[in-house]
Amino acid sequence: MEPKLSRKDEEEALRRSRALERDDINSLRKASRQQYLKKREQKKLEELRDGIEDEKYLFEGVKLTKAEYGELRYKKEVYELVKKRTEEDDNIGEYKMPEAYGQDGVVDQEKRLSAALQCCRDPTAGDKMNPFTEQEAWEDHQIGKATLRFGSRNKKQMNDDYQFVFEDQIEFIKTSMMDDEFDNKISLDPPEKSKAKSELEKLQEERKDLPIYPYRDDLLKVVEENQVVVIVGDTGSGKTTQIPQYLNEAGYTKRGKVGCTQPRRVAAMSVAARVCQEMGVRLGSEVGYTIRFEDCTSRKTLLKYMTDGALLRELLVEPDLASYSVIMVDEAHERTVSTDILFGFVKDIARSRKDIKLLISSATLDAEKFSDFFDSAPIFRIPGRMYPVEIHYTKAPQADYVDAAIVTALQIHVTRPPGDILVFLTGQEEIETTEEILKHRVRGFGTKVADLIICPIFANLPTELQSKIFKPTPAGARKIVLATNIAEASLTIDGIKYVIDPGFCKMKSYNPRTGMESLIVTPISKASAKQRAGRSGRTSPGKCFRLYTEFNYTNLDDNTMPEILWTNLASVVLSLKSLGVHDLHNFDFMDSPTVQALIKAADLLSALHALNKVAELTLVGRRMAEFPLDPMLSKMIVASDKYKCSDDVVSIAAMLSVGNSIFYRPKDKQVHADNARKNFHTGNVGDLIALMNFYNAWRETNYSTQWCYENYIQARSMKRARDIRDQLEGILERVGIELTCGANDLEAIKKCITAGFFPNSARLHKFGSYRTIKCRQTAYIHPSSGLAEELPRWVVYHELVLTTKEYMRNVTELKPEWLVEISPHYYQMKDFKDAASKKMPKGQRDG
Ligand code: CDP
Ligand code: MG
Repeated sequence: MEPKLSRKDEEEALRRSRALERDDINSLRKASRQQYLKKREQKKLEELRDGIEDEKYLFEGVKLTKAEYGELRYKKEVYELVKKRTEEDDNIGEYKMPEAYGQDGVVDQEKRLSAALQCCRDPTAGDKMNPFTEQEAWEDHQIGKATLRFGSRNKKQMNDDYQFVFEDQIEFIKTSMMDDEFDNKISLDPPEKSKAKSELEKLQEERKDLPIYPYRDDLLKVVEENQVVVIVGDTGSGKTTQIPQYLNEAGYTKRGKVGCTQPRRVAAMSVAARVCQEMGVRLGSEVGYTIRFEDCTSRKTLLKYMTDGALLRELLVEPDLASYSVIMVDEAHERTVSTDILFGFVKDIARSRKDIKLLISSATLDAEKFSDFFDSAPIFRIPGRMYPVEIHYTKAPQADYVDAAIVTALQIHVTRPPGDILVFLTGQEEIETTEEILKHRVRGFGTKVADLIICPIFANLPTELQSKIFKPTPAGARKIVLATNIAEASLTIDGIKYVIDPGFCKMKSYNPRTGMESLIVTPISKASAKQRAGRSGRTSPGKCFRLYTEFNYTNLDDNTMPEILWTNLASVVLSLKSLGVHDLHNFDFMDSPTVQALIKAADLLSALHALNKVAELTLVGRRMAEFPLDPMLSKMIVASDKYKCSDDVVSIAAMLSVGNSIFYRPKDKQVHADNARKNFHTGNVGDLIALMNFYNAWRETNYSTQWCYENYIQARSMKRARDIRDQLEGILERVGIELTCGANDLEAIKKCITAGFFPNSARLHKFGSYRTIKCRQTAYIHPSSGLAEELPRWVVYHELVLTTKEYMRNVTELKPEWLVEISPHYYQMKDFKDAASKKMPKGQRDG
């Protein structure tokens, strides 16, 4: 128990504490007054000095009266005296000059004072007359080191500067100029442009500045005289945006549309938008685009930009492309699977339709191969217009190219003259990380360094953000574009002067034996490296910083391998079959895939019942081909007819098609985000049904954005899922599948999933690892899965990807008897042999 204080004690304690408080307040008052006085003295002193300086400037060369002269001299004297006194008795915390110390460390006051006085007379130190603290001095020094200064400073000092900002700076060696590869260089004067012109007029003038413009008439003549023309020209010369317009102006659109294909959807959209601006029309009217799940065209459309995949799908409904007068297969050098297949079809169509024109355009110089393929079609070369590009290699190989890219970008930003930077990275995740780190480091520079505008660009980026990269950089700022391969040839961004090329890109690789897909970061080819470097020399002489050594460069492959030689061909075979190509081996491929790869793909399709015994398309296959999706996903939807749950399954398919951009996990709120996610996984329904739960919950809130926000879901992605879903619903109707909802019958939905993905089933093996049933491939449940902790005995997965490990993504629990029920043709007794002793599927035991 606490001792009780007497009343007297209490009063005494109170009195004491009050006295203490009073003392405290008094001493605080005193200190603050002292500080105020000191500041006031300082201020007065500064006023005096400024007055003297002003007079010196204002009345320089003016003859002063005697009184005026006396006053000035008086002011000066007072100033010197006061100054001297302040130096003497108020030098605590002052930054001491080294000369102030004598031999044995004794302070030599005279010397010290003279140094200080000299310091305040020094015009560059004029604003630092206040005795400033060591800390401030140090900070000033630091900031000085990081400040951008040009001209007067010599190179040596610049180098010292970076050393301070970037302890880990990267050394480059300039080895070569890339100018010898380009036919004609032009004078460096920027074209003169008058300001008082309308936007449209300005654009029209810009069109005339493009390298292709002088060749307009020649080109039209060649196209007039030949049915197929191969067009080669550097990126940015105006092939994609100008040629369709020229054809329109020349009247080709009177006979039918001009179609221009792009390998990437971002390119199709952005180019269409640009052409609309140039023609002064609305997007979707005379000029439009079509990509998977998005059709922005109308009956009026004359110029149609589209992905190569979209044109392939059009072939399904219009096998001779009758509504087109010209087809331009653009960026042919990319050699995507769809481009390669298109080649075969358009070549065939051109033979039967003499009125159609075919243009194959490409940025690199492999034109002879294209020409040979198209029966020796003439090659039209647009002479490049390219400024010289300086190539710099690193002195030593870089272990972490992302880090090296960041450091190099900052080095350029701080030390090099204005001009935008383009950095090639391999994917969305890398771009986002880099963006974050750059933002953070630039903030550290404060206002001393010019603004850095960071613009990411990758295929999944929403359209409204994409346009940011084309906006001109405001004066005094610098733009840095963080791009995937997309900026290599498909997109032209003006104003780029510096290119940072880490030398890698992400390639999808497919193992036909295990069915495993992996996105592997692989070295680029020499052709790519040249193309990347060229991006810096479009509007002025440029510099390319390669984050690898020259020796590394010599070891790169010459060209990138066409996608058709290494990808999963199941959807290729399905499209070919649905387009009426029965003899795959004799299809006119520019580079034929291996026989094994084709057989493997056909096998999978027959397991899915898309092909019959003689490899003809079945009714199921015909329905599947209508969906612009992977065959297994299409099969899942087609199977929903039987299980009466099509409404649920299209939601799943739509959500899967959006990709990995649905959830977001801000670094500081990861726990909340994960918890929000868990709610939709209750009952261990599996990831695909959880996706459906997300969609349904969103639908119940009447598609609320607020709901997305609360659940850490990207509203944009959900909206896209909704659009995709609407289209899938439309296709359901077309193929005669009724829209039925079986929301409470989860087993039916899971069976439906199994019906599409049964080749992707796996069994728990040991220590949390799984074995795929057919190929006996070891795999793990991806940590992001809702079943990652549950580890069900049998699972079916959406994809198998190799990242740090072999991971199964989007997993659903499975009952083994379903496999036997659904796919007795695919799984036999021996596939379950390992499990026989433990728990054998019921169907197998019965048999
Ligand atoms: O196809 P190619 O690489 O030959 O060039 P292009 O894509 O037709 O680009 C020609 C010019 O149009 C570029 O120099 C860009 O300045 C401009 N452009 C643009 O400003 N915005 C776009 N979305 C596309 C092109
Ligand atoms: Mg182009």
